[in-house]
Amino acid sequence: MEDGTIPDSDITASSAWSDSTEKERGNRDKGEGDGAWCPAGAVFPSASEYLQVDLRSLHFLALVGTQGRHADGHGREFARSYRLRYSRDGRTWITWKDRWGQEVVSGNENTYDVVLKDLGPPIVARYVRFYPLADRVMSVCLRVELYGCLWNDGLLMYTAPVGHVMHLSGSPVYLNDSTYDGSIESGVQFGGLGQLFDGVLGGNDFTETKELRVWPGYDYLGWSREALGQGSVDIEFHFEKTRSFHTMQVHSNNHHTQGVRVFSKVECQFKPGLLLPWSSPPLSLAVPLEDLKDPSSRPISLPLGGRPAQILRCQFAFADRWMLISEISFFSAPPSTTTSLAFPQVRADFDAMTPRAGLPVAKDDSSNTAILIGCLVGIILLLLAVIAVILWRQYWKKILGKPLSQLFHPSLHSSIPPFTTSSLLSLPPACGMDLEKGLPPTQEEPPPYPDAPPYPALSPPFPASVPHYAEADIVSLQGVSGNNTYAVPALTSPSPTAADCTPLPELPRHCLVFKEKLGEGQFGEVHLCEIESPQDLPNLEFPFNVRKGRPLLVAVKILRPDASKNARNDFLKEGKILSRLKDPNIISLLGVCVSSDPLCMVTEYMESGDLNQYLSHRVLLDKTGPTHNTPTISYPALIAMASQIASGMKFLSSLNFVHRDLATRNCLVGGEKGESGGDRGGERPIKIADFGMSRNLYAGDYYRIQGRAVLPIRWMAWECILMGKFTTASDVWAFGVTLWEMLSVCQEQPYSNLTDEQVIDNAGEFFRDHGRQVYLSRPDVCPQGLYDLMLSCWNRDCKLRPSFAHIHSFLTEDAMNMV
Ligand code: ADE
Repeated sequence: MEDGTIPDSDITASSAWSDSTEKERGNRDKGEGDGAWCPAGAVFPSASEYLQVDLRSLHFLALVGTQGRHADGHGREFARSYRLRYSRDGRTWITWKDRWGQEVVSGNENTYDVVLKDLGPPIVARYVRFYPLADRVMSVCLRVELYGCLWNDGLLMYTAPVGHVMHLSGSPVYLNDSTYDGSIESGVQFGGLGQLFDGVLGGNDFTETKELRVWPGYDYLGWSREALGQGSVDIEFHFEKTRSFHTMQVHSNNHHTQGVRVFSKVECQFKPGLLLPWSSPPLSLAVPLEDLKDPSSRPISLPLGGRPAQILRCQFAFADRWMLISEISFFSAPPSTTTSLAFPQVRADFDAMTPRAGLPVAKDDSSNTAILIGCLVGIILLLLAVIAVILWRQYWKKILGKPLSQLFHPSLHSSIPPFTTSSLLSLPPACGMDLEKGLPPTQEEPPPYPDAPPYPALSPPFPASVPHYAEADIVSLQGVSGNNTYAVPALTSPSPTAADCTPLPELPRHCLVFKEKLGEGQFGEVHLCEIESPQDLPNLEFPFNVRKGRPLLVAVKILRPDASKNARNDFLKEGKILSRLKDPNIISLLGVCVSSDPLCMVTEYMESGDLNQYLSHRVLLDKTGPTHNTPTISYPALIAMASQIASGMKFLSSLNFVHRDLATRNCLVGGEKGESGGDRGGERPIKIADFGMSRNLYAGDYYRIQGRAVLPIRWMAWECILMGKFTTASDVWAFGVTLWEMLSVCQEQPYSNLTDEQVIDNAGEFFRDHGRQVYLSRPDVCPQGLYDLMLSCWNRDCKLRPSFAHIHSFLTEDAMNMV
């Protein structure tokens, strides 16, 4: 609401106590009103007062939050419980119930704390109403927040036969659609949505469930052929608007021994509009034999050939006594002009039509007309493919402008919570929850990290020039030296400081004598160069003493000559930022060559390369005892290095810089003597730099989304992965991972036993906080006290993570004495 995503006019209420407590005055950050909505009428006993939010389109909502009226200590009102009602069309209202049928949601206990409620089952709705409740006559006030994402498919409802109960050695397995929010009549459920679209995928054993404390069979909707009395299960899907359907994915169980099998055939009919006739004949798809044989549960992809429909009716043919489905999802798009063409008869061979095999092919009907029709279909499909590619590209362009969490549509990636904010009335910034753009800190409790870059809520896309996880109002440093993005207040503020206007120190290109290539990547190369007479260069920022007449080795980052304009801008911005960062534990910029192409950035050279390489070629002294040829490192030396990194980060955080890609690969190691490290502690100076994807060597540390966005997910806090929320607190999380790498002497990647997708799932577990999240385990040589520090860096609540000042003093004082 604050950033205008949800205008005040979309928030209505049954009544308001006074002007100062009307519904849109709930935003404390504006400093207006009494900071919450308070109804005029009593909520006891009638419970009919409500605050309504119109989201303007269907949304998938997974979490709600409430807060009372604090009004700077003058408020005393809050709602101890409330009911939620929602509607997809503004006419039919449904009361939300949890999985056990409970309608009443526990609310607030005081005026200031935010209470979040995980919506299980999630809500798909356009309108949501909060009804505060009370058990006696009293005044209540409320502030609310909704979290979710767009319900892109626009599925309004599905109709299906009611699920059956299976009796397995005497115990019942309930295979009904227990969260279905429509009606039931004569064994058919209609007019609602339920478990087939809740994002929960059932496992191989349908008696086990993903949800806690639910009954066997919960994850599946299942039917018995015998009880149904027919050879197929008929499901009808109603969408908001006509769409072109490309694929239907049906996640099914295939537990042969219990007589459960994936459907053998599907026949679908398409109705392109409510008043239009069903297109005929139906599309018939056969499931390949291999899919029927494999006993594991899995998604079956059914190509629908881009047919237009607003209503889709599919008959799933039984292959055995039981059919169990846990999830259905559609890949569809708004219709293109070609989709209005009538479809000729196409009987498709499933195998040839799986996504693996590309687009559907028409089967020959052995007549000339069929060949002709086949050719026509081919052309249409080709056109459709081109349109699909264009739409796909636009889709990703749009999507990449949103936080990562929005990429995971619930029906496609069940285990990843699809949370983003659909910010409404404001809440204080509890970690990961202060998602509203520009949400300032609460008055009573300033956040420990004032640098938190404001996070854009729901819709504002990121600039197209930033092809990764950057937000609109922070500076992207994607260039040859990295893909990093820092929050730089001085550079983004409307009134530039003197430092912003100072030109970068230009060096004559000819003074750089190439020695060797240090690295290369997507954005250019890094060279080791020599400056023969550094003392002759008045512009050279000279950070350390080089004796007169002695050459100076420097690292030169060179932007690819064919780099885009955006990459060039980012490169120049990076130069500006680096030139302002003067700290012994941050790599320093000596000069630039930007008056002609290719653009170059000259930084100090760190003789021993990056920390990851440096450590991975070493063994721990105390672990292996004397070694022959392998270089060693001691625990105190490791801690001294870690404390230098903490010192550099302390400096960055004091400037409100968010690094976003702290890892051993982005720290450089100096020579044993000769350089002036700041907080040395050990023999070798360490300096934080940022290379990001500029070195192909570490490409595996970044998770690539459709070839564009690159994310160091294994170093990212859960709120960065799910919500794109980068703060100093998330840098602290990354520091914990960096420390873990160091104590593991960089022998393996963090969570090497997890795939990228599992790492993202784990972020979801952190969010859900049901105790299923996994942590990096304690490296062998790591004392428990130091591991506790790491664990505190990975605290779910970012307010409880330590500051870099604390980490630094812990490493310099306590950690040294731990062995
Ligand atoms: N970039 C890559 N390697 C480097 C090094 N050794 N020193 C400075 N910058 C670098």
